[in-house]
Amino acid sequence: MTTMHEAPVSLATAPDVAAARIAARLTREQKLSLVSGADFWNTRALEAEGVPSIMLTDGPHGLRKQAGEADHVGLNDSVPATCFPPAVTLGSTWDPALIEQVGAALGRETRTEKVGVLLGPGLNIKRHPAGGRGFEYFSEDPLLSGKAAAAMVRGIQSEGVGACVKHFAANNQEAYRMRLDTVVDERTLREIYLTGFEIAVKESAPWTVMCAYNLVNGEHAGESRALLTEILRDEWGFEGLVVSDWLAVADRTASLDAGLDLEMPASHGAWDKQVGKAIDAGTLDAAALDGACTRVIALALRVVAERAARDDAAAPDHEAHHALARTAAAAGTVLLANDGVLPLAAAGRVALVGAFAETPRYQGAGSSLVNPTRLDSAREAMAARLGGSGTVLYAPGYDAETGATTPDLVRDAREAAAAADVAVVMVGLPASYESEGFDRKDLRLPADHEELIRAVASANPRTVVVLSNGGAVEIDWADGVGAIIESYLGGQAGGSALVDVLFGDAEPGGRLAESIPVRAQDLASHSNFANHPTQVQYRESLYVGYRFHDTWGVDPRFCFGHGLSYTTFEYSDMRVTGEGTDVAVSVTVTNTGDRAGSDVVQLYVHALASTVHRPEQELKGFRKVHLEAGESTTVSMTLEHRSFAVYDVAASGWRVEDGAYEIRVGSSSRLIRSAATVDIVAAETVSASAAPVQAIATSAEFAALLGRPVPEPRPLTPLHLDSTIADLAEVRLGGALQKRLLAMFAEKMDLDDADPAMRAMLDAIMGQMPLRALVLSSEGKLSFGALEAALGVLNLLPRKK
Ligand code: BGC
Repeated sequence: MTTMHEAPVSLATAPDVAAARIAARLTREQKLSLVSGADFWNTRALEAEGVPSIMLTDGPHGLRKQAGEADHVGLNDSVPATCFPPAVTLGSTWDPALIEQVGAALGRETRTEKVGVLLGPGLNIKRHPAGGRGFEYFSEDPLLSGKAAAAMVRGIQSEGVGACVKHFAANNQEAYRMRLDTVVDERTLREIYLTGFEIAVKESAPWTVMCAYNLVNGEHAGESRALLTEILRDEWGFEGLVVSDWLAVADRTASLDAGLDLEMPASHGAWDKQVGKAIDAGTLDAAALDGACTRVIALALRVVAERAARDDAAAPDHEAHHALARTAAAAGTVLLANDGVLPLAAAGRVALVGAFAETPRYQGAGSSLVNPTRLDSAREAMAARLGGSGTVLYAPGYDAETGATTPDLVRDAREAAAAADVAVVMVGLPASYESEGFDRKDLRLPADHEELIRAVASANPRTVVVLSNGGAVEIDWADGVGAIIESYLGGQAGGSALVDVLFGDAEPGGRLAESIPVRAQDLASHSNFANHPTQVQYRESLYVGYRFHDTWGVDPRFCFGHGLSYTTFEYSDMRVTGEGTDVAVSVTVTNTGDRAGSDVVQLYVHALASTVHRPEQELKGFRKVHLEAGESTTVSMTLEHRSFAVYDVAASGWRVEDGAYEIRVGSSSRLIRSAATVDIVAAETVSASAAPVQAIATSAEFAALLGRPVPEPRPLTPLHLDSTIADLAEVRLGGALQKRLLAMFAEKMDLDDADPAMRAMLDAIMGQMPLRALVLSSEGKLSFGALEAALGVLNLLPRKK
């Protein structure tokens, strides 16, 4: 009972206090039952104790609430929800305020469906553009990723549901993701792979964080005390709950000890004996279980309290959300090149080539797959836009599912282009080319799409190429065409948004949040990407994306931050003032063209001299500006200690070297409009450290960066609990067992209706499933002991040559 003397308990703290009281009353069995899910998407309720069950579900750019059969790969239907543009497109908006609005709309739909936590945003770094899940991540840059994620979290949580920042950490490829060991030096981990999470945690206080599947430096991310407790909670002040990725728990005792609160999905008590024994033996502190259990209860109470505090009588405004999705898609559309053919005239004959105009490629496959409330096609939107003033000459050009063309389809496309005033060719990556679960083999468009571009461009020089894809592709056909639009994946309103941009009704507001390399082989990360089944070595250290291109002098095709507008901007009067490491930067931006438009003012810091290795320049601030024709504005940004700092591994902290730094302000990483030099005095020392002499560290250089010998990758045999179903084929008879297991899954999942993209993804995901998942998902039918005994027998059999 509240007395007059008690301070009112805030909504944020009340659940924690109540949770601690409840947890203190529970038996060990009850506690254990709470720290693992009840089923696929829900936590366990303890009604007698007033602990409700809550649902956590995907995420990240739309709600995927499955009403019937559950799976975590998008196979079974979910309730209709607005499919906003995925993170690749949202990141390209460089507009946290807009992303926050999208977050709020997501939060609203989530709450209405009585879901407690939306599993997103994802903010892993795009280390290599072929990463299969690049479409679910914002950028190659940690500052941009972190700011975008924080905005999304603030938006979602403003509606009283939890967000889930994922996948923590160093989860940058899909191949072998469930047991891959990411070997990365600590400075790189801190500066590139953790910084975005740090920003999100500090600037948006997410209710939950999801640990990644992979290992980091030999330890499962979900068993890393350094990551989950020392860095996340102690250093960054995270107060929420850590949830496992689905089936990521490899050892529940170790994960509890590390700070992983909730295991998902349900493991049906598979670990209970082991954890109980560890507590009895004193190898696991009982407080670890108490803490985890308290946080699970607190989350559930918080969800319920926030829901109760809001009036949900009215349904979410799906029309308004669709309109917001359209605005966001246009704002993330990047105009890569334009010889003046764009914007299109609102009259005349437009050849619209490409099946994506009718069957849009608008989201990626896997756990983020949303069942949209509606779906706009570019073809319909264009016909509506032209109305009676023009004609759309549509030619499909290729099969939307496979991307394959035929001589007849190419001929029709060429004829349409020749008969039109302008041609718009929509090409890109068919859904089966990119997905959660596997990485792309290369960065090429389908060869047939390249052929189609050439055929259309040769018939009409006024050709606009529109790309629909989740990540960078090689663009070596650029010279023959009039304009190139990278529309990425536009969400359910992408078709209309594209037409808005084509006709200049909306500004192509996007700027590249990733570099587009000339060739994948140019990249330092390329030689150590998805190249070993149990380990990946980040030998390029800090040199990812523009940090690589700019430092090692390798030109990209289109640089980070690039994107054209339909108007022009001038920058003037740059001023830099400040003391110590607190620096204020301002610059005046003027729209010098004759129409309204937007630009992204980007602020890069370059150290003129340094005793440690550093990228040539790094993004330390940005601001999107919208200006009417002729309008000016002064943009002010601030730099702080961290903007100049490096992570000093020996000192375990961020340190700034005194000296001269150039502050660069530009419209892209390579279009620097103004620069000024400042002398920074922090009076700190930075410990000397090893530096790679080349872009891809040699073994000796990598060992020096790591501060230990380069670890040997774990061999595939003998088989163990973390081995995958695909690994079974390494031993005789294992192949037959593997086939049997995969057939069982296929039967259980009823794959008859699965399209090729879905099949490709499922094959990859099932093959990569660790054997321990058989126990966890067996609902008590298979024990770890039985599985280990079976593996013991298999390990006696000869290896396959
Ligand atoms: C994905 C997560 C997702 C979860 C639940 C996992 O396979 O990595 O991002 O939230 O499944 O669907």
